[in-house]
Amino acid sequence: MSMVITIKQALSQAQRLQGVSEGWRLESEILLAHVLNCERETLFAWPAQELSRQQADAYQNMMQRRERGEPIAYITGKKAFWDFELKVNPQVLIPRPETELLVETAINLLQPKCSAALRLADLGTGSGAIALALARHRKHWRITAVDISPQALALAAENAQLLQVENIEFCESSWCDGLDARAYDLVAANPPYVAVGDRHLQQGDLRFEPSIALAAEASGLSHLQEIVKKCRKILKKEAWLLLEHGFDQKQAVSNLLRDAGYSNISCAVDLAGVDRLTCAQSPG
Ligand SMILES: C[S@@+](CC[C@H](N)C(=O)[O-])C[C@H]1O[C@@H](n2cnc3c(N)ncnc32)[C@H](O)[C@@H]1O
Repeated sequence: MSMVITIKQALSQAQRLQGVSEGWRLESEILLAHVLNCERETLFAWPAQELSRQQADAYQNMMQRRERGEPIAYITGKKAFWDFELKVNPQVLIPRPETELLVETAINLLQPKCSAALRLADLGTGSGAIALALARHRKHWRITAVDISPQALALAAENAQLLQVENIEFCESSWCDGLDARAYDLVAANPPYVAVGDRHLQQGDLRFEPSIALAAEASGLSHLQEIVKKCRKILKKEAWLLLEHGFDQKQAVSNLLRDAGYSNISCAVDLAGVDRLTCAQSPG
């Protein structure tokens, strides 16, 4: 049976997470705030507040899960992205801050014609992060969110409902198969791009994420290759293709695009200074 503990005593257990994460102190605060359904700041305003038995048990359970390495986002079931919060589960990749670069770039590229009724696609939507950010930005844009995983699509659709977003259609498909030809003004994709067998797949959060969302053949390039080729059919002439990729894939992705006839190819670096996003215009 668990003992009665205060907020301060609960937070003093933070060191249990020292072996899992450099942000162990913050992580214990996030977990406790989640259990108590309050803001983190509240924890410091009421250190002597006692947890109910149920809250204490829930906190112990979450600390144990985190000690075993399970990602914080899967334990709490949520993750902040862009200017909103997404529901996440182990069927989808946990949206990364670096993917916000893709959203920001798409919005900037479309700025000159943003009042038009544009059609956009998010290939491999996962939790719906990219599609939802774009759909919320302009309610008159029509977004097609594609994934091969029905579980991911179901969660993305649930996120759209929770955020009251109505301008996304969900499509279970392999990349562009089944999408309208010459219809899209911009296609964004954050496909799996970690090479099968890469040691990073056995480290940190990646161990718990679905391999269908992470790993790709051909040194991580197989899906990028397929998307570059197939998107020529669905993009309008001079429409944009935005591809997130690995830190060492800039040259390979640029070559794929050039060989497929795309123009204005450029690569942007993320906040960590890593080559992360390549954009190009379709030959039409
Ligand atoms: C790296 S995750 C990206 C998820 C989300 N867009 C994000 O940025 O957080 C890649 C996604 O591609 C999906 N996927 C993998 N193979 C696919 C395919 N052949 N066609 C469509 N989607 C695919 C996975 O299910 C996964 O949701």
